[in-house]
Amino acid sequence: MLRYIKMNNNFYNKNIEESIIIGEAKYKDSKKISEIHESRFPKPYGINYIKLLIKNDINLILVAKKEKKIIAFMVIQKVLDVSEIITIAVEKNYEGSGICHKLILDAIDRLKKLNVKFITLEVSNTNLRALNLYSKNNFKKKSLRKNYYTDQFGEKTDAYLYERKL
Ligand SMILES: CC(C)(COP(=O)(O)OP(=O)(O)OC[C@H]1O[C@@H](n2cnc3c(N)ncnc32)[C@H](O)[C@@H]1OP(=O)(O)O)[C@@H](O)C(=O)NCCC(=O)NCCS
Repeated sequence: MLRYIKMNNNFYNKNIEESIIIGEAKYKDSKKISEIHESRFPKPYGINYIKLLIKNDINLILVAKKEKKIIAFMVIQKVLDVSEIITIAVEKNYEGSGICHKLILDAIDRLKKLNVKFITLEVSNTNLRALNLYSKNNFKKKSLRKNYYTDQFGEKTDAYLYERKL
C-alpha cells in the first residue's frame, strides 16, 4: 500500500523504501558513487578517491539499489570499536523516501556484528534533513564545532558531533 506523508509541503512516497536492496559497494560501483557524491556535495571526492575508499578494508561502504541501479550510498570508517559515518547521500529525486534511514539501519546491524560499540559523525547545523535523519536514528548531539564547514557560497557553518551507542 502506498503511504504518502506531508512534510514541509512536499509529498513523498514511503513505498519506494520497500523495494530497495542494500549491499556492500564493489570496485565497479565507484563511478556511480562518485556521480551521486558530486551531485550532492559542493566538494566532490572524485572517482579515484572513491576507488581508494572501496579498496581500503578500514571502510564499510554500502550502496542502496533500486532495480539494480545505485541510488544512494554511505561510507563508514571502522577503527577498533568506534565507527564514523564519513559520508552518506541519496540521489536528489529519491530524497525523503526513507532510503538513507534504511542504509543506517543496515549499517548498524553490520557494525554490531563486528563488535562496534559507538558510531560518530559530524553534520552541519544547517543541514536540517540530515539532522532529522540522525536524531530519528537515536544519534545524540555531543558537541558543537564552530566554523567547521565551508558551504558552496564560502560561508562558514558549525558542525554538530553526533554519537550513537550500539
Ligand atoms: C541528508 C540525506 C542523506 C537524507 O537522506 P534521505 O534518504 O532523504 O533520508 P530519509 O528519507 O531516510 O529521511 C530521514 C528523515 O529526514 C527527515 N526529513 C525528511 N524530509 C525532510 C525535510 N524536508 N526537512 C527536514 N527533515 C526532513 C525526516 O525526519 C525523515 O524521516 P521520516 O520521513 O521518517 O520522518 C539526503 O537528504 C542527502 O543525500 N542530502 C545531501 C547529502 C548530505 O547532506 N548528506 C549528509 C551529510 S552529514
